[in-house]
Amino acid sequence: MKLAERALLAEPFHAMAFGQRAAELEAAGHPVIKLSLGEPNFGAPPAVRDAMRELMDGRPLPYTAALGLPSLRQAIAGFYRDRHTVEVDPAHIVVTSGASCALLLAVAATVEPGDEVLMADPSYPCNREIVRSFGGRVVSVPTSVRSRYQLDSSSVAHAWTDRTRAVMLASPSNPTGTSIPFDELAAICELTRSRNGWRIVDEIYLELADPDESGMPARSVLSTDPQALVINSFSKYFGMTGWRLGWAIVPGDIVEQVERLAMNYFLCASAPAQQAALAAFEPSSLAECERRSAELRARRKIVLEALNAIGLSVPVIPDGAFYVYFDVSGTGLDAWEFCERALSEVHVSLTPGRDFGVVTANTHVRLSYAAAREDVHEGMTRLGEFVASLG
Ligand SMILES: Cc1ncc(COP(=O)(O)O)c(C=O)c1O
Repeated sequence: MKLAERALLAEPFHAMAFGQRAAELEAAGHPVIKLSLGEPNFGAPPAVRDAMRELMDGRPLPYTAALGLPSLRQAIAGFYRDRHTVEVDPAHIVVTSGASCALLLAVAATVEPGDEVLMADPSYPCNREIVRSFGGRVVSVPTSVRSRYQLDSSSVAHAWTDRTRAVMLASPSNPTGTSIPFDELAAICELTRSRNGWRIVDEIYLELADPDESGMPARSVLSTDPQALVINSFSKYFGMTGWRLGWAIVPGDIVEQVERLAMNYFLCASAPAQQAALAAFEPSSLAECERRSAELRARRKIVLEALNAIGLSVPVIPDGAFYVYFDVSGTGLDAWEFCERALSEVHVSLTPGRDFGVVTANTHVRLSYAAAREDVHEGMTRLGEFVASLG
């Protein structure tokens, strides 16, 4: 029997090979410092865990509406009002199984076979597979240090063709941790809108981004482009990766079609996760998440200082997502070899650039500082020893 082309062509995460090797090392009694994982070590805020415990009392937990629990959609809208001073109609919010599912729905709803979708190289690898799965053509636009490895309006204009249907952005970005300056984001959206293109904007790391000079939270794209398709999640800021809960905010005139796709694809997101997630918006949970963001910024400082002392350059300084994307070309190793040897020789796991595109594939390595602070310290000490050993 023949498998579908999309299954045959789907790329795995290249870094999975390192996960396997790390597991072998650990089984042999060598603790591995994991600076490869995109998940904060904190877990869900305590009030969310308490709420989940209560829900596990044997009560039936039936499906929710396909678009999600009305109370949770209200709470998410309230979060945008209070934090971002943006009015979002709860009816436009679609609760999903993580940002992953929100991305899937957004692309399913907007991309037709043969349509071109612009995205940055380097960027989050799953977007490429999702677009391809729906027959779309991925147009990876090379970026550089000048645009902080993000798209800008001139690169979008340059890459645009008659077949371009959408632009996918993530601000802040995985793997670089950098945001698109807000005026530039507005310019990209304006240009894309003027050409009738969809703006699919992944804000999964937005709440972790540095506040502006006056202490205000980084702004959502919705404050400049209310018709953008916004992707977000409970995974990162709320520390709920394994709970599989996220959301999309979509323009009002496509809600009905997105709802039909949602009910056909997955019926609804996890009911207990949705109910417990209501507690994520309690003041105590939000205060806890802000403390964690501050802690992540402190870890970023530790990593940047250590990389500087080690002599590894960070061409773009991150301002949001808990990643640092550093250049290893000065070591004489390519990125893959660097990661392989760092894992084998000093038991630190990292992610080579190959997973994120081609521009920085051989030169750059992603380090996640979402691991516990002591692990970050230990990891940087070991990396220092490793680089010193290279001479
Ligand atoms: C940019 C980006 N978008 C989406 C996701 C998927 O997140 P979720 O756990 O919400 O599905 C990730 C996960 O690392 C990510 O980095």
